[in-house]
Amino acid sequence: MTDLTTLEADVLAQVAAAGDLAALDAVRVAALGKTGSISGLLKTLGSMSPDERKARGAAINLLRDRVQAALNDRKAALETAALDARLASETLDLTLPAPRRRRGGVHPTMQTMDEMVAIFAEMGFAVAEGPDIEDDFHNFTALNFPPKHPAREMHDTFFFNPKESGERMLLRTHTSPVQVRTMVSQKPPIRIIAPGRTYRCDSDATHTPMFHQVEGLVIDKGIHMGHLKWTLETFIARFFETDAVTTQFRPHHFPFTEPSAEMDVQCDRTGGEIRIGQGTSWLEILGCGMVHPNVLRACGIDPDEYQGFAFGMGVDRLGMLKYGMPDLRDMFSSDGRWLDHYGFSAFAAPNAASGLS
Ligand code: DAH
Repeated sequence: MTDLTTLEADVLAQVAAAGDLAALDAVRVAALGKTGSISGLLKTLGSMSPDERKARGAAINLLRDRVQAALNDRKAALETAALDARLASETLDLTLPAPRRRRGGVHPTMQTMDEMVAIFAEMGFAVAEGPDIEDDFHNFTALNFPPKHPAREMHDTFFFNPKESGERMLLRTHTSPVQVRTMVSQKPPIRIIAPGRTYRCDSDATHTPMFHQVEGLVIDKGIHMGHLKWTLETFIARFFETDAVTTQFRPHHFPFTEPSAEMDVQCDRTGGEIRIGQGTSWLEILGCGMVHPNVLRACGIDPDEYQGFAFGMGVDRLGMLKYGMPDLRDMFSSDGRWLDHYGFSAFAAPNAASGLS
């Protein structure tokens, strides 16, 4: 019998020493498995005399039951310990601050656009819209771009494949075609702005293939450059929320206006940043001019009766200037950290009563 006592002590010690469920199972297999030590003892019973088998068999069965019970207890203890460890590692301290999540907000370009619309609405401009996919007539021809004129190429136009008729549609290169659509569909007096997306095959720190413009158009009797200048200077002072901005008009050429000008704002560019209202540099922010008689005629308006002015400005660029964003490309890189930093609250829509930004 002493061999059974020794074997039991040995197996129970192994059961107690098993540190995890896998080790415990190995002990079980070594003792009670098909070729295990206790199973081996049971196999020896066959060759014994009936009396011997009776005594020995009972002892081995008791041993097997005790080992099985010890295995069960140890297994339950190990499972409880594993669960306790998991619960401890997964505890949630509800008093800790919540992990930082993106808040979501209004993109600076949309904020800038809303601000521009709010200012011009206050000045009596209605908002007009046109399609992003344009035809050659509205984007170029009606705007007095001569056929095959290099200015068409200068716009780095994205063309679609030609239709069966040979006509090539394009992504509008500016918001000026909305001028044409408005003059064709409405009678003067006209006072509209047209905010929207525009496209050119161009990409660097101050150009992106898709960008935003706000177009402006005023058609009435007796309109002159003085009206244009006052409108734009008033807009700029309101937009930058200061009277300290100095602007200059430089003669320029656009096929659709005569005379044409570009407007610059005075700024300081030292140290890689742009600050307005100070410094000795100028930054171009918009094109403008008196609507060319050919454009009026193409839209069915008599230039001897009506005159008008128009302007077009880059929204993203004005936003960069106002909010100090150094690279235009960041605006469309969809980086959540950038939006967290430069985004605006959706609950603070710009308007004349509560202010712009
Ligand atoms: N369409 C011009 C551009 O994208 C901007 C512009 C200049 C618009 C003069 C106008 C204008 O309406 O009168 O470069």
